[in-house]
Amino acid sequence: MDKPGQDIGMVGLGVMGRNLLLNMADHGCTVAGYDNDPAKVQALIAEGAGKKVQGAGTVEAFVALLRPPRAVMLLVPAGAPVDAVIDALLSRLQPGDLIIDGGNSHYKDTDRRGQRLAGLGLHFLGVGISGGESGARHGPSIMPGGPREAYERVRPIFEAIAAKVQDQPCVTYLGPGSCGHYVKMVHNGIEYGLMQLISETYDLMKRGLGLSNDELQATYARWNQGDLNSFLIEITALIFRQPDEQTGKLLIDFIRGAARQKGTGKWTSQDALDLQAPVPTIDVAVAVRDLSGREREREAVNKVLAGPSGKFRGQRDAFVEQIGRALYSALIITYAEGLTLLHDASVAYKYGLNLEEVARIWRGGCIIRAAVLQNIRAAYRAQPDLPTLLADPGLAKELMARQQDLRAVVATAAELGVPAPGLMTALACYDGYRSAWMPANLIQAQRDFFGAHTYERIDRPGTFHTHWNQE
Ligand code: 6PG
Repeated sequence: MDKPGQDIGMVGLGVMGRNLLLNMADHGCTVAGYDNDPAKVQALIAEGAGKKVQGAGTVEAFVALLRPPRAVMLLVPAGAPVDAVIDALLSRLQPGDLIIDGGNSHYKDTDRRGQRLAGLGLHFLGVGISGGESGARHGPSIMPGGPREAYERVRPIFEAIAAKVQDQPCVTYLGPGSCGHYVKMVHNGIEYGLMQLISETYDLMKRGLGLSNDELQATYARWNQGDLNSFLIEITALIFRQPDEQTGKLLIDFIRGAARQKGTGKWTSQDALDLQAPVPTIDVAVAVRDLSGREREREAVNKVLAGPSGKFRGQRDAFVEQIGRALYSALIITYAEGLTLLHDASVAYKYGLNLEEVARIWRGGCIIRAAVLQNIRAAYRAQPDLPTLLADPGLAKELMARQQDLRAVVATAAELGVPAPGLMTALACYDGYRSAWMPANLIQAQRDFFGAHTYERIDRPGTFHTHWNQE
């Protein structure tokens, strides 16, 4: 017979931790929660009334509630708080117990913690969880990494609580070490890219075409019924009809245009630079968030730099449809960037990632869920080692069918003086990847000219250096 005690415990009863624990309890798990804020423990007990939920006010009492070998999940802010909780748990846990970090930890921290805990005989999983508050409560996408045998212990719980698409849970074992947190980081990098692109379409339609919030709402809602069907387009439509409690007008017009970030998008760009994997649309999304925060500078520059009037003189409705088609191609290019980074990281860090499975578990529950992930999944099913999605014949066909729209939208944005760096970069990525020839021969010549850095030739093997004519 099983020893008495709860199946799993949660440290950190903020809204994500509490909702995830209640989701587990809904699926028949016996659970225990701990938080150093007693009000949060009370909130869990109140919301968990009638379910097999217990709360504890101290780490000792919490650990005592769990059935050995114990499984403890952490949902606390990334960084030092994760180490502090692990330290507090260590003296109370025993070899064979399992710690699961469900937060947005940096993958290098996850590797470090996994090695430390393995040395102490404890198991450790780094698990990305996406879907926000509602996903945690009703079905997130779960991205686990770490020792497979540790995953097998919690697999039934994860499969029960995850979002389901066509009856399949949006969770799978992804790979060893920090693999789960790496995949979640790239998920967030893609999230940054998609949000940037959607915000550019908003800008073009608002400032360029003069669409009202009602028209914007109707446009995004219509787009969500077609190819663009996705969580982010769906919530965008809803945002444009949200009233402001303070003024009774629409809330969107009262929100400051300075985007914040917790860092996962930046980490994606940083690691991509280290791996020399180009993710330019994601890079731009990170940079534009930074630019959005520089309000003082923007105001000062606004006084001295002039641009076009921004008046669109074409067929408005037809152009709105072109924007939708351009957005769809740019979104595919952003997914392609993120998945190429995962492809390269999998080789560099020996994750053994199955990208078809990654696309599968991103189809439901997570922030970047979208109908197009079905096509992306099919691309990796057909060619598991596809280095870039842009080489997939099916997706290439979809991109080609819309390339004129992307060009027209980018050209019009430039003419109107409405910034569209994400769309422009996605188009440059399209053209860059389809360039069998690149002008980097000139860069190589310049490097050799001023620094004797040598170059390779296209007509014979070897490395060459030239004594360049100086005049
Ligand atoms: C998710 C989200 C989530 C993330 C927020 C905010 O998958 O549920 O990615 O993990 O924390 O979206 O991220 P930023 O503060 O960096 O925008």
